[in-house]
Amino acid sequence: MASNPHHNTIIIGAGAAGMMCAAHSGGDTLVIDHAKAPGEKIRISGGGRCNFTNMHAGADNFISSNPHFAKSALKRYTQWDFIGLVASHGITYHEKTLGQLFCDDSSKQIVSMLMTEMEKAGAKLVLRTAVDKIEKTESGFRLMLSGDRQGAVSCQHLVIATGGLSIPKMGATGFGYDVARQFGLPVTQTRAGLVPFTFDETVMKNFKPMAGVACDARVTTDRTAFEEAMLFTHRGLSGPAMLQASSYWRDGEGISVALMPGTDFFGQLKTVRTTNGKRDISSVLAEILPRRLGQYMAGLAGASGNIADYSDKKLQALADLLSCWQLKPAGTEGYRTAEVTVGGVSTDALSSQTMMARDVPGLYFIGEVVDVTGWLGGYNFQWAWSSGWAAGTAI
Ligand code: FDA
Repeated sequence: MASNPHHNTIIIGAGAAGMMCAAHSGGDTLVIDHAKAPGEKIRISGGGRCNFTNMHAGADNFISSNPHFAKSALKRYTQWDFIGLVASHGITYHEKTLGQLFCDDSSKQIVSMLMTEMEKAGAKLVLRTAVDKIEKTESGFRLMLSGDRQGAVSCQHLVIATGGLSIPKMGATGFGYDVARQFGLPVTQTRAGLVPFTFDETVMKNFKPMAGVACDARVTTDRTAFEEAMLFTHRGLSGPAMLQASSYWRDGEGISVALMPGTDFFGQLKTVRTTNGKRDISSVLAEILPRRLGQYMAGLAGASGNIADYSDKKLQALADLLSCWQLKPAGTEGYRTAEVTVGGVSTDALSSQTMMARDVPGLYFIGEVVDVTGWLGGYNFQWAWSSGWAAGTAI
């Protein structure tokens, strides 16, 4: 049986945003993806348990050239709406930390839920299919397809939900940005976000033996600060605090790290000096901080010998280093391991109510392809749900 070549709506990208949109855009919707399966990033997210939203989600948790843009969609389709949907499918979940909600069982439940919702809405999905060309027609758009589904298809509403550039191995492409440029829409500069920092060889020589060491930290960039765990890896610094900071960091900038924020290092060092002055200062640090990190910080400060020989001034300088450690990343691991792409299709060109391009009626951009990037902690999926819903219900 020949497939219908005309649809009311075509959505390119069966990821989080595309599937959410298809579940709300009415019956005659075709969803096209070049991957073998829908929702692959949902499947691998949150260590296989999908951190599907955050109870505290609000526009302040997003990075965008226009910080107000995300407000409308986030307010009209909230985390509580999505939580309600999850619960209505009998999916049980839990809060891990800081409002982050994860499935108790598997992220695949979220993919199945969205597939069920799409089917209920009557949307059709074609996989392993590429869009080779898009043309504007008088009444909408014509697309040339290759792969499992071939030939021309047309639609009145075209939704671009192809995500960002992170994890190219999983099929991430710059397709959405190319479509925006084809239709004359501006695209802001993109960069890898929620990504580990890398350091030059001399620094890495010292960091490598600390791989696996984790501690709480407050990481400050030129723009913001995050207090969460940090982790030394064989390639540099990771952990939530570093990933969060990376989304705000720019090439060439430094970061400031307060190890174990809230710890009164000066007071603790002074106490040991009074009670146990013969102790070696580096072993004292190795007790206050995780052992290998304490030893490293002592070496960095050139601190050795009896703690009794340390004046208040010297102890204060050491304490200051621990709470204001200045580091200069060489870069990040880039899109290869980044959880998100910061930047994207400029919000100036889109309606915050419907996600439709102001100057190209019928063309919509949703999800990560848009210049709206969430913090770590379920915010990026919430943006996918909210923006997908906003476009879907507007169609
Ligand atoms: P998404 O990337 O989900 O979907 C895009 C779809 O378009 C894909 O199916 C892709 O195959 C398709 N596509 C791309 N180019 C195409 C083309 N040229 N032709 C046809 N199809 C094309 N967020 C969060 O909130 N909580 C979490 O726990 C995590 N965890 C996480 C882990 C890892 C490892 C990564 C990489 C990312 C996360 N994220 C996350 C981020 C989250 O996955 C991401 O922000 C959303 O999936 C974005 O949803 P979109 O639908 O916009 O893009």
